[in-house]
Amino acid sequence: MSAERYAKLSGLGSALPERVVPNSWFEGRIETSDEWIRERTGIRSRRFAGPSESTASLAADAARAAMRTAAAQPSAIDLLIVATCTPERFIPSTASFVQARLELSCPSFDLNAACAGFVYGLSVGAAQIRAGAADRVLVVGAEVLSRVLDMSDRTTCVLFGDGAGAALLEPSEEPGIIDSLLALDGRQAELLTVPAGGSAEPVTHEGIEHRRNYLRMLDGQSVFRQAVVAMADAATAVLQKAGIGPADLRAVIGHQANARILTALGKRLGLEPGQVVIDIAEVGNTSAASIPIAMDRAWRAGRLSPNDLVLTVAFGAGLSWGANLIRWTAPPPGTPGV
Ligand code: ACO
Repeated sequence: MSAERYAKLSGLGSALPERVVPNSWFEGRIETSDEWIRERTGIRSRRFAGPSESTASLAADAARAAMRTAAAQPSAIDLLIVATCTPERFIPSTASFVQARLELSCPSFDLNAACAGFVYGLSVGAAQIRAGAADRVLVVGAEVLSRVLDMSDRTTCVLFGDGAGAALLEPSEEPGIIDSLLALDGRQAELLTVPAGGSAEPVTHEGIEHRRNYLRMLDGQSVFRQAVVAMADAATAVLQKAGIGPADLRAVIGHQANARILTALGKRLGLEPGQVVIDIAEVGNTSAASIPIAMDRAWRAGRLSPNDLVLTVAFGAGLSWGANLIRWTAPPPGTPGV
């Protein structure tokens, strides 16, 4: 009988735009303050893409870095998944542009689960490997949210940033991606949305006048409360199924929407503060990119070592949420390419 086939992480990378936008940039433009943003969200600055940067360019930069850490050549990649809710264009997929930039020749597609996109992508990528449909899968989370932010809406524009993160998956005999949970409640789709620009409501002059081509969040407090409960429930379900207690986790890498959400999540799960990765201060909420960026930065900072148990957990528009339980297998930083 052949051995079980699992998926493991073999490479990681991230990329941020050049331009740093501190909280002070918003002061004077809208009624807000550096103090309010820092205290309510934990954000001090974020990166906004410049004119020559886009979702595909950041995705390709992050993917290249991930491939480098695993010494993987373009010909070795069997599948590319780009998780994004701010695509390069309506048609074709962002993955088309990323595939070309990376000189890959594999099937490639976009996946939109908003801020939960990377968690969804990791689950789909791992399942492809387990099924024997692919050997090496690149999963990228990439966003340029600054292009859909209403810079006159203080309840959203201060929260988000641009960036990309990528993970390379490959087959293994032991589980690296141990398990995933994916969930969505479409009845709450209107809570966080860009109303115009799709098939239901194309962009019109009138729509632009009413700023309907920008991101809207109807009830930030409700999103906040639901995020904490849904992420804690997803984390608990995945841990219980695997017979693992919260104390066994080296790190919980949650979607970086708000430092207060992550602190509340940690308390609800009974975690020590040191187990919760909070890396929002200089990045902001980068939606599908937030988990792979935080993961890459935690790993390069030496916070994650081989064999550690790591839980990723996310919540976002849809409303969508999910979690992945991971046995850490990426090579330690300092090895060639890392
Ligand atoms: N500067 C100053 N004041 C502000 C700002 C701002 N940027 N934004 C809102 N306020 C005001 C509000 O108008 C309100 O004023 P009022 O009391 O006079 O009405 C006051 O501050 C308090 O507002 P709250 O909404 O109660 O503030 P809260 O502490 O809840 O923080 C926040 C708001 C940061 C949006 C929080 O609710 C949050 O993080 N929500 C979750 C967001 C999230 O997780 N999104 C994830 C998904 S994103 C995706 O999927 C693409």
